[in-house]
Amino acid sequence: MVYPKIVVSPPGPKARELVRKDELFVSPSYLRYYPLVVESANDCIVKDVDGNEYIDFNSGIACMNVGHNNPSVVEAIKAQCNRFLHYSNTDFYYKEAIDLAEKLAEITPGEFKKKTFFGNSGTEAIEAAVKLARWHTRRPLFIGFIGAFHGRTMGSLAFTASKPVQRGYFSPFMPGVAHVPYPYCYRCPFKLTRPNCNYWCADFIEEQVLHKYMPPEDVAAILFEPIQGEGGYVVPPPEFFQKLKKIADEYDLLLIDDEVQSGMGRTGKWFAIEHWGVEPDIICTSKALASGLPIGAMVAKAKVMDWNPGSHASTFGGNPVSCAAALAVLDVIKDEQLLDNACKQGDHVMKRLEEFRQTSRIVGDVRGRGLMIGIELVEDKETRKPAPKKASEVMLRSWRRGVTVVTCGVSTLRIVPPLTIQTDLLDSALDILEDTINEVAKET
Ligand SMILES: Cc1ncc(COP(=O)(O)O)c(C=O)c1O
Repeated sequence: MVYPKIVVSPPGPKARELVRKDELFVSPSYLRYYPLVVESANDCIVKDVDGNEYIDFNSGIACMNVGHNNPSVVEAIKAQCNRFLHYSNTDFYYKEAIDLAEKLAEITPGEFKKKTFFGNSGTEAIEAAVKLARWHTRRPLFIGFIGAFHGRTMGSLAFTASKPVQRGYFSPFMPGVAHVPYPYCYRCPFKLTRPNCNYWCADFIEEQVLHKYMPPEDVAAILFEPIQGEGGYVVPPPEFFQKLKKIADEYDLLLIDDEVQSGMGRTGKWFAIEHWGVEPDIICTSKALASGLPIGAMVAKAKVMDWNPGSHASTFGGNPVSCAAALAVLDVIKDEQLLDNACKQGDHVMKRLEEFRQTSRIVGDVRGRGLMIGIELVEDKETRKPAPKKASEVMLRSWRRGVTVVTCGVSTLRIVPPLTIQTDLLDSALDILEDTINEVAKET
């Protein structure tokens, strides 16, 4: 079978009809990149209601790391459905949640003892981390990063800072959050260049924030994404997180690592922070953990997770079907050596795109780890002026030609296929993507 397979120019008639109905009944707050209406999906291929088959370059927004409808995961879900669907892990016990917490303690970085709190989503994992940090430290303040995305509930939203539309008309937010510049070297917020910058982005936090207006004795934690996701697939420089850890140790601040998008093998390691060799106090994961079923997990050092019974809980958190799916996901990643495949295929994509960058007029930067890769489009390579319209045009045209790529940040295309993808399929999708970028570059 050769993919992609476009049989009707998308959106086809069935998709158009469903989108029309959606407009009548579904919340208009959803973003919707393009009118893709999914009928079914298998491994790296998504089929729409009109029979078109696409190569999935976004994995349902970084959730389907083990591929769509992975047979082992589906079997585990079915088996759990035949046993029981729910029994409130916050009030009683069941093995699935206990086993998953044990496994998460094993795969998250750090040899220390850990405990897990279960919620249902990424934002709930972040809410839990923020509450735990306040509980444990008895300190009110936090440091977050400009460009971050941590979710949209009121606590997480206080940290989210990647697009004004996410925050507009929702003030006031949870007080006590200071945002500092993220190490985005292609567009250094301090207009410096490496290595001459000497990691001013890290020293800034100490010299300009902790020494000026956020008294360290009042700061509970620093919340960060190891690679900014919604903010544009931004990869910090090699020593940044070691420097952040040094600051955290110096002032006794907790490090909260948001791996909701970058975790579960996406970058070729279980968790992206491992690329920097830093062991955070708290790690949040969600998205790919249960292969599309709702779950969020906040894994903390056991000595940090010292809150009282009743201080935080959620009826559905750690649902047994989601936990069974997650246990199967962990086995699949290990048994099918998907960390290795993410590294191997990621290297292939990076090499190919780096060559392409050199010939393209509008590809400014290519960056990533494993299969979490961003292509930043610019109007002009000298000025580096972002090209959001071009990025959007490339995204739409690629979709119409059979590749479900989406954007992030201001003008970055993200490549986030299932970790099961093989080189031939990757190359078919990259052929389309590069061709579309060339087409858009020529026209404008
Ligand atoms: C890094 C990060 N944190 C948190 C979230 C929020 O997750 P959810 O949409 O499941 O609440 C997201 C979602 O994209 C994310 O990318």
